[in-house]
Amino acid sequence: MSNSLSTAVRTARFGWKCVAKNTSRFVCQNCGAVYPRWAGKCEACGEWNTIAEEEAPAAAAPKATGGKGGRKIEFVGLSGVPETSFRLKSGISELDRVCGGGLVAGSVLLIGGDPGIGKSTLLLQATGALSRVCNAAGKPVRCVYISGEESVDQVRLRASRLGLASANVDLASATNVRDIVATLDSGEAPDVVVIDSIQTMFVDTLDSAPGTVGQVRAGGNELIRLAKRRGFALFLVGHVTKEGTLAGPRVLEHMVDTVLYFEGDRGHHFRILRGVKNRFGATDEIGVFEMTDKGLAEVPNPSALFLAERRGNISGSCVYAGIEGSRPMLVEIQALAGISGGGSPRRAVVGWDSSRLAMVLAVLEARCGVRMSDKDVYLNVAGGIRLTEPAADLAVAAALLSSVSQIPVPADMVVFGEIGLSGEVRAVPQPGLRLKEAAKLGFARALIPPARVNKKSVKESDTVLRLTEIGHLKTLLDMFGMAENRRDS
Ligand code: TYD
Ligand code: MG
Repeated sequence: MSNSLSTAVRTARFGWKCVAKNTSRFVCQNCGAVYPRWAGKCEACGEWNTIAEEEAPAAAAPKATGGKGGRKIEFVGLSGVPETSFRLKSGISELDRVCGGGLVAGSVLLIGGDPGIGKSTLLLQATGALSRVCNAAGKPVRCVYISGEESVDQVRLRASRLGLASANVDLASATNVRDIVATLDSGEAPDVVVIDSIQTMFVDTLDSAPGTVGQVRAGGNELIRLAKRRGFALFLVGHVTKEGTLAGPRVLEHMVDTVLYFEGDRGHHFRILRGVKNRFGATDEIGVFEMTDKGLAEVPNPSALFLAERRGNISGSCVYAGIEGSRPMLVEIQALAGISGGGSPRRAVVGWDSSRLAMVLAVLEARCGVRMSDKDVYLNVAGGIRLTEPAADLAVAAALLSSVSQIPVPADMVVFGEIGLSGEVRAVPQPGLRLKEAAKLGFARALIPPARVNKKSVKESDTVLRLTEIGHLKTLLDMFGMAENRRDS
């Protein structure tokens, strides 16, 4: 940009107030919006008192488009073989699957999660496992673990607890991005680098404190550029805010290739690694781990874990055959519906969408004549897992009716199906996979949506389970001896 342009002219031309090199600007610490002057409220995200002064990075001044000095770029066709399709597999299959089948060289993964959920443990175990395998060139993988949160001794202590004391991992405790980049840029490039966490890293050319949006963005940017240039897979650990989004680095989510959330209920011992963005694989994959005294253990068969504490023949409980990512998963849905003490009835949901529950309750009342508006309703997905599929509707309805009627859902029955607003039961994806999992776990019966015309569906002869197809929610009332409601409606 020409230096002769005045600030006013630049503002008019580029639509935002461009500040001169090394002057300050004001950045919202919640969403990253940039303002030329301080304000109490961020207009972009609506938060109050989140705007803080930061030094503008030198690169913030936009270069005039079409200016001199640009190099010509080469265009290529869409066909062609990628340079490398090699995926580095850690051998921890729950992690490899969520990463899309292994790590791609030069890819950047951001792992978010509540404090203490096990991010550092997972990544230390991952580097430990990776250091035992070979890279594309057939050499042992070189892993680097840089912690900005814990001292070398603390990480060593954890490693010995995890049985990884002898693993060949290069460990350092550092926070200065310039030092880290200089170190990783010299000598032979490592294959995998872990930065724990991006909020503790700081770029010394910026005045703001570590963890601020400016620091996270600048530090992230430097590290990501280095990873792409030197071709190592980079894990960035990110903290989450109390709202559950990655703190500060929303900006980072756009810059990285893969975003994973490590979630779980503190009261439960299992943890779920969920992919929310992946440039190299499916995003709805999950990996299930169990936190033990020797670190995170893989859970290859989550259904067995989620159903482990189920007691048969109790009213208000129903086993739902769901799909998470590419994997079938059976979970127990528990409902408790009791007469409300007056006022507006309570609805409490753990592990499911509360508006989805409101819809199922409304359909039961309006289409099946079951009075729910005078009852408090509590719904719990046992084990602490969070369900996202609408296919759980029918299982929720069955658990609710079972609780109201005090008649248990048969203990050897699984249920799945989506419910429409008129009470019709709709088909859901992959019924065969759900039934196969149920058969594997010893279930004998299944309550499923009706076969779709001209679409592939499961025939009784395809499975060992006895199938009951149900077209409308009203039919479900018979199972719970509530047929009189049906006549009323
Ligand atoms: P950590 O990996 O430090 O969490 P984060 O990096 O996400 O903040 O996890 C620490 C928790 O895990 C801590 O509460 C103790 C527990 N833990 C175990 O139960 N077993 C173990 O073997 C380890 C290493 C940690
Ligand atoms: Mg940690």
